[in-house]
Formats: sequence, structure tokens, C-alpha cells
Amino acid sequence: MSRQPGSQSIGPEYNSAMPNHSVDVLVTGAAGKTGQAALRALAHRGLAARALVRRAEQADAVRAAGAEQVTAGDLLDPGALYAAMQGAGAVYLICPNMHPQETEMGQAAILAAQAAGVGHFVYHSVLLPAEPAMPHHWQKHLVEQALAACGLSYTILQPASYMQNVLPYWPAIKNGVYRVPYSIQAAFTPVDLDDVAEAAAIVLADPAAHAGRTLQLCGPEALTSAQMAAEMAAHLGRPVRAEVQALADWEAAARQNGLESYALDALQKMFTYYDRHGFGGHSADLQAVLTRTPGTFGQFLSRLGV
Ligand SMILES: NC(=O)c1ccc[n+]([C@@H]2O[C@H](COP(=O)([O-])OP(=O)(O)OC[C@H]3O[C@@H](n4cnc5c(N)ncnc54)[C@H](OP(=O)(O)O)[C@@H]3O)[C@@H](O)[C@H]2O)c1
Repeated sequence: MSRQPGSQSIGPEYNSAMPNHSVDVLVTGAAGKTGQAALRALAHRGLAARALVRRAEQADAVRAAGAEQVTAGDLLDPGALYAAMQGAGAVYLICPNMHPQETEMGQAAILAAQAAGVGHFVYHSVLLPAEPAMPHHWQKHLVEQALAACGLSYTILQPASYMQNVLPYWPAIKNGVYRVPYSIQAAFTPVDLDDVAEAAAIVLADPAAHAGRTLQLCGPEALTSAQMAAEMAAHLGRPVRAEVQALADWEAAARQNGLESYALDALQKMFTYYDRHGFGGHSADLQAVLTRTPGTFGQFLSRLGV
């Protein structure tokens, strides 16, 4: 397969000033929050990483996070995927959040990995993917199924919702309100994204030890939004109350902010699921991979320093 016009290698293929090891793990979605956390964790463990980003202007950010080589291209472009994977020992497929074609992206990445002879494929899925009530979860379920059937060596990571998801709401939280469009009594097992990234790096450092495994990546506590608000209040030293935002109000605001129709629909279905069932799993897998207790919400808040 030849490189297609959509793929663009940015800067030197290999920077000889970097540590003396071959560029080995390809991280996709690398400029996003998960991708950058993964690059930092890989660099921390001394693993060489290359990045696939969508836009060339994202190269500086992923280099700063630890990528030694950067390619720009679309996850739906087979040529870009193949070019980015050539010579890589492993791929860490992180797809964009709430993308209407994640299944196609996963299938294209699997085909590219097979064509490029990648040794191990790690897929960043989600906790409870086989849930038809949440369409973006179901798409990840289909990718998981394709991966399990494709013959590649693989590991599937199923993270719970990140603790970092509260950060976009931080200004309102500091003003005393943590507003969510579902029951404030619904329970979650939020996980620290840095723990997720560390687990991914541990898996990628020793793929044989984790081949064929599906790992739930959940934090160690079951917490409701009301309990998270109480913890944030204690951290900030001022009152914070959890409050339900009517789903219709959330939708109106999201439409006004220009959220695309797939994400608008998928998020509303996800919030409805959260409202009825919460969203939780068990932290045993993450604890076993990290060989320590995963971080608590309180520890995450302490690290914020605000
Ligand atoms: N947030 C959570 O709690 C959570 C929990 C479990 C699993 N996850 C999963 O984690 C994954 C990553 O989430 P995230 O929040 O880190 O994502 P993110 O910050 O939105 O980053 C996604 C990245 O993918 C890029 N991208 C978008 N469309 C692309 C395309 N067609 N081709 C190539 N790159 C493209 C984006 O580039 P642009 O900047 O150009 O858009 C962005 O850099 C998602 O699959 C999500 O479902 C999230």
C-alpha cells in the first residue's frame, strides 16, 4: 500500500537526539486528552512512541507530550493508517470521542495493522461497550468483536468515565454548583486518566503478558455526583452542591454550542443510561496491572492544586 495524499509525515522520521531506541508504539488520536496522557506515560516508561494526529498544527503538542515522530492523517484513511503504522511494533488505537464512524475507523485500523505487520494492537474501548442503549458504546463493541476475530495479538482497555471529565465544569464548580444532566444519586467508578495511561503503557511495554485480555479500568470508589460535589467542596474549602440539569436544557445549550447531531444524540442516550443505572465497574483489573491501588477522586483533586 502506498502513502496517500491524506497522510503527511511532519519533521524528521527519526530524531537522533532522542533516546537510543527504535520508534515503536503508534498512538492515534494522539493530540486528544487520552492520547497526550498515553504519550506522557509511554515516555515515562522509556518506550518510544510515534503519533498520528488529524491536523499538522497538532505536531508540537504531541512532541511535547513525548512523541518522537508525528504523522498527520485521518483515521478513516487506510493509506494514512498504513503509513503511520509501518515499522511500528504496536498500535494503541484511540478513536475520537463520539464519532459516528468509530466502527469504520476500528476496522480500517485493524486492516492497516495486518498489512503493516504490527505485532500487537491495543484498543481504547470503554466500560460496558455491549450496551445497545448507548450507540457510541455499541460501536466500540463492534470494533472489539472485529479485533477478537482478526488474528492479531490484541488487548482491549475498557475505561470508566475519567475523573478529568469534571474539569470543563470547574468554573461553575468553583462558583458552588456541579450540574449534571442525570440523577445526582447515580453511582460511578471514576478513574484517573493518568492511571488509564499508565496501565496502557504497562500493557504496551509487555504485550505478551496481556495478549487476548480485556481489562476494565475503573477507579477504586463508587461515587455519586452528590458525593463528588462534597469532595470538591472539601477540596475547595467552600460549598459545592450537585444539581440536576434537565436534559432538555442540556440539549438546548449543546445545540447552541454547535454540537454535531451524532454526539448530541449519543450523549443524550448516555445521560439517560447514567440516570437509570449509573456507570460503574470493578477496579481489580486496574489494580492488578498497576500493582497498586488506583488513585481516588480525592487524590486527583489534590493534584489539581486549585
Ligand atoms: N472521557 C471519558 O471519560 C472516556 C472514558 C472511556 C473511554 N473514552 C474514550 O476515549 C477516547 C478518546 O477520548 P478523548 O476525550 O481523549 O478524545 P479527544 O480529546 O476528543 O481527542 C480525540 C482526538 O482525535 C482527533 N480526531 C478527530 N477526528 C479524527 C479523525 N477523523 N482522524 C484522526 N483523528 C481525529 C481529534 O483531533 P481534532 O482536535 O482535530 O478534533 C483529537 O485530537 C474516545 O474514544 C472516548 O470514547 C473516554
